[in-house]
Amino acid sequence: MPKKKSSKRSELDHYSLKAKKEGYPARSVYKLEELNSKFGIFKKNSKILDIGAAPGSWSLYCLRKTGKDSLVAAVDLKDITINKNEERLFFLQGDFFDEKIQSQLLEKGPFDAVISDAAPATTGNRTVDTGRSFTLAEGIISIADKMLCPGGNLAIKIFQGGDEKELANMLAKTFKETKIFKPKACRNESFETYLVGLNFK
Ligand SMILES: C[S@@+](CC[C@H](N)C(=O)[O-])C[C@H]1O[C@@H](n2cnc3c(N)ncnc32)[C@H](O)[C@@H]1O
Repeated sequence: MPKKKSSKRSELDHYSLKAKKEGYPARSVYKLEELNSKFGIFKKNSKILDIGAAPGSWSLYCLRKTGKDSLVAAVDLKDITINKNEERLFFLQGDFFDEKIQSQLLEKGPFDAVISDAAPATTGNRTVDTGRSFTLAEGIISIADKMLCPGGNLAIKIFQGGDEKELANMLAKTFKETKIFKPKACRNESFETYLVGLNFK
């Protein structure tokens, strides 16, 4: 019998099933895996700041891939579902733009990598959603400067169709290399992509 062509749904199932099998709460972990293998976002023993961390797949991936001297500081408006007793994990529930949250995070820094999968609550209106994603990413980029070590890396989600090039230009001022990359693990219909800044000056 001829093999069925894989549909969008089966592709989605592939990543969701893989995440379940490997103990990750969300399939989005494979986006970080691709970003990290392509750009080497973080190293074995490093301090990582994960913004928009819930339910916790990216943080868990970082914990699994880094060594005993690493630290993952994570923040989200929502709670995470991964094991919070892991001593290399420091989680804060709240808004990353809250000054108290930022100063607590800074106490754990500076960080070798800042990763952000943060996304605004979507409305279904592409213009509104893209605009909100731009504002969120722009805010994170301007604060990431305070959080990163020289030589550090940044990966940040942005909805395509807004001014992602403008954000890439912002990054180019403070990073030696900048990239825009859409991992294969992004859903076909999704309009998200990732901005990457390498080697913070
Ligand atoms: C796509 S989810 C992240 C998934 C996560 N990377 C994982 O793999 O489990 C996006 C998250 O961004 C969070 N978020 C959006 N704005 C935020 C803000 N200002 N501060 C903290 N978290 C925020 C949302 O609450 C949501 O949980």
